[in-house]
Amino acid sequence: MTDAETFIHRFVPGKSKRTLLILHGTGGNEDDLLPVGRMLDPESSLLSPRGKVLENGAPRFFRRLREGVFDEDDVIRRANELADFVTAAVAENSLDAGNVIAVGYSNGANIASAMMLLRPEILRGAILLRGQVPLIPEKLPDLSGKAVLLSSGKLDPIIDADNASSLVQLLTKAGASVTHLWQPVGHELSRNDLDAAREWLQGVRG
Ligand code: MLT
Repeated sequence: MTDAETFIHRFVPGKSKRTLLILHGTGGNEDDLLPVGRMLDPESSLLSPRGKVLENGAPRFFRRLREGVFDEDDVIRRANELADFVTAAVAENSLDAGNVIAVGYSNGANIASAMMLLRPEILRGAILLRGQVPLIPEKLPDLSGKAVLLSSGKLDPIIDADNASSLVQLLTKAGASVTHLWQPVGHELSRNDLDAAREWLQGVRG
């Protein structure tokens, strides 16, 4: 088995040099957010893996001890494993390694920011829909040149405002250019999230 086969995944070739790495939320799978990816960018390739951790049968990208409390060793291990998968899939499909942008929802947003903090070379940027701090790395990476959009829900019962703001601070301190938006909704995605993400993505240079 090659590294690119280590995750069940979908790959949809695109017409541009950009690849969106699509990362579902808890209980989702590799098909869930493909339409969102296509709506955000009609031209990009889409790479969408399924999280390997099962929580009562629900796929996730890393283990948690309970809601909001993450198994940090597992976050580190899984972020590295996902980074290796992306590297292999990029090589196998002759994609542009410098132009991979994550689009993650909830648990998918959290593994995307973990990967950015631990393996910064993998992502050009990330759209974090309902993201929170996944871990505090021992050493801050250099994220200058990386673009991040965090879209948070004002009424989110899972992620409090301080946690979302801490993620913005962490990424900004590491040098990323971060845009933080608040939507008037809860943990669920809204049309506003997607419209804002599409517009933000249009402003990110390839
Ligand atoms: C997580 O576990 O990553 C977050 O609590 C979001 C979730 O998946 O519910």
